[in-house]
Amino acid sequence: METILLSDSAEDVSAAAELIKNGEVVGIPTETVYGLGADACNEAAVRAVFAAKGRPADNPLIVHLADFSQAAHYTLFIPPLAYKLAERFCPGPLTMVLPKNEKIPMVTSGGLDTVGIRVPSHPVMHGIIERSGCPIAAPSANISGLPSPTCAEHVMKDMNGRISAVLDGGDSKFGVESTVISFDSDDTVRILRPGAVTREMLLGVCREVVIDPAILRELKEGEKAVSPGMKYKHYSPKADIIMVEGELEGFKEIISRNNGEGVYSLIFDGDEKDFPYRHFTYGADSSEQAHWLFQRLRELDEIGAKKVYVRAPLKDGVGLAVYNRLIRAAGFEVIRI
Ligand code: TXA
Ligand code: MG
Repeated sequence: METILLSDSAEDVSAAAELIKNGEVVGIPTETVYGLGADACNEAAVRAVFAAKGRPADNPLIVHLADFSQAAHYTLFIPPLAYKLAERFCPGPLTMVLPKNEKIPMVTSGGLDTVGIRVPSHPVMHGIIERSGCPIAAPSANISGLPSPTCAEHVMKDMNGRISAVLDGGDSKFGVESTVISFDSDDTVRILRPGAVTREMLLGVCREVVIDPAILRELKEGEKAVSPGMKYKHYSPKADIIMVEGELEGFKEIISRNNGEGVYSLIFDGDEKDFPYRHFTYGADSSEQAHWLFQRLRELDEIGAKKVYVRAPLKDGVGLAVYNRLIRAAGFEVIRI
């Protein structure tokens, strides 16, 4: 299959929508990361998404809508709190897990009786959903296990020859995937995957926000993942990633002891002064770090890094999302200074 590259012109947006309407799989831009889009109600198209990614069949896809008001068509029940959250955060990087109805096939929901609903804010993505007239199922557009793609070039690298087209809508603004939440009670939500809609922001609308334990540590044997995605190794480049929590001085000491061929550091902007080892930087604050993390992990692979020591981000705000992706990329290997 030849994968064509589309632009964000009105004509190409229509072409992408038409392909999706006809059951094809298209790489599409969103404000978080690029997705692999297909008609969420077309079982064959959804199967093609799983096949292109090499994704386990029990890991559900998020369904993207043009407007939250359409969520009622695909769900059995929407709690009042979900409407309040939608008012504040939709469109945007928030996915709400709700009880699905029969319009969403079991393939799409990975066999679960719930569906993750998201209303993306990227104008091109919005246009594609509207013009296709379909709810669009879209996982991140990477090969399963690799870092998520934050530009069209990354998608082409992973998906060339596997899907019909990729639409280039520019670099993804946030750089990490959406915040995924479920509803524990009338006024409490649970974060299943942290993202740019932070715990602090959700607390402006909910009485309580529970951080699911699987966000920060490995599931113990026999412990069940609330979100199937949490049990798979994720975001891992080929290099061995080691996360280091603590001050810069201690970090430098660790590198001086472990330096060697193929060893790299991924540090904060501002750390590079008097840093005499091979390194990349990934931003000065949590938002920048979210934006650059996946791009840097891909670059480190490209130059053949074998071992990468990463300065751990803060765990508040969007930093929690960065920390969560990194600890998974590191296979939970953390050095605490
Ligand atoms: O920002 C995003 O969410 C991107 C863009 C393309 O929208 N999509 C994305 O999809 O990251 P994906 O499939 O790579 O990650 C979806 C995550 C997985 O960890 C999955 O297990 C979880 O959300 N998820 C999806 N539906 C769920 C459900 N019904 N219950 C629990 N977890 C769910
Ligand atoms: Mg993904």
